Amino acid sequence: MISEKRVAMVSGASRGIGAAIAETLLSAGWNVSLGVRAPASSRFLDHPDALVCPFDALDPESETAWVQATIARFGRLDGLVHNAGIMIPKSVLDAGDDDFDMIFNVNVKSPMRLSQHAWHYLADAKGGRIVTVASLSGKRVKSASSGLYAMSKFAVVALGHALRQCGKESGVRSTIICPSFVATDMGNALAGRDSNELTQPEDIARIVHMVLELPVTASISEIPVHFSVEDCY
Ligand SMILES: NC(=O)c1ccc[n+]([C@@H]2O[C@H](COP(=O)([O-])OP(=O)(O)OC[C@H]3O[C@@H](n4cnc5c(N)ncnc54)[C@H](OP(=O)(O)O)[C@@H]3O)[C@@H](O)[C@H]2O)c1
Repeated sequence: MISEKRVAMVSGASRGIGAAIAETLLSAGWNVSLGVRAPASSRFLDHPDALVCPFDALDPESETAWVQATIARFGRLDGLVHNAGIMIPKSVLDAGDDDFDMIFNVNVKSPMRLSQHAWHYLADAKGGRIVTVASLSGKRVKSASSGLYAMSKFAVVALGHALRQCGKESGVRSTIICPSFVATDMGNALAGRDSNELTQPEDIARIVHMVLELPVTASISEIPVHFSVEDCY
């Protein structure tokens, strides 16, 4: 059966920004397919409009299975949100090959593969959207310890723009969200500020929701999000 509601897949929806995106989309009347590493502990398991699927960015087979499970349950796909990500706080002088491979596998290669698997369904939706939660670290490098992470985020920003170029005819549109510090486990560990001073995950979720619903004639390529005026480029 094909769902009458729009359907989005959200990676890394166990906590932080991903969980907030899932919550916001469900409240807005979307069906949401959550990709998480530990489905049994998801607080969305009993939600009637949610599907909680195993997804590990280091396991390519889990990506195809997640897309197939989403289509099997809802019959359509309107939005794909690349949110899962990791930070390895190492400078480019300290990072080893293992660090490089790990951060690029999770932050870059998995979103590319997921986009490939989902593309056909997004194109079928005639208005499919891909939203990538990248980072302002994908636009500028402000510290040595964010160097490796920034390399991966610059790459995923490029992926978002490259996907945009692929969508000219099908109407699939790709948008990249570039936050600075957000009050999540990751952001709180890095910012060295009170979490109330940081961008809230719910506000990133509002932006993602808006982008998913904008028409093809009002498509935004990138959205930088600053928690403070001190934090501009
Ligand atoms: N917080 C910030 O300040 C900030 C700023 C700019 C951009 N971002 C980006 O925003 C996104 C979400 O970050 P967040 O702040 O919500 O971070 P977070 O609280 O650390 O959550 C990270 C999410 O990614 C998932 N994840 C990590 N490794 C994974 C893997 N191998 N496979 C599947 N999922 C995996 C985690 O799942 P588990 O629960 O299983 O670990 C979790 O759901 C990331 O891409 C991050 O780079 C964050």
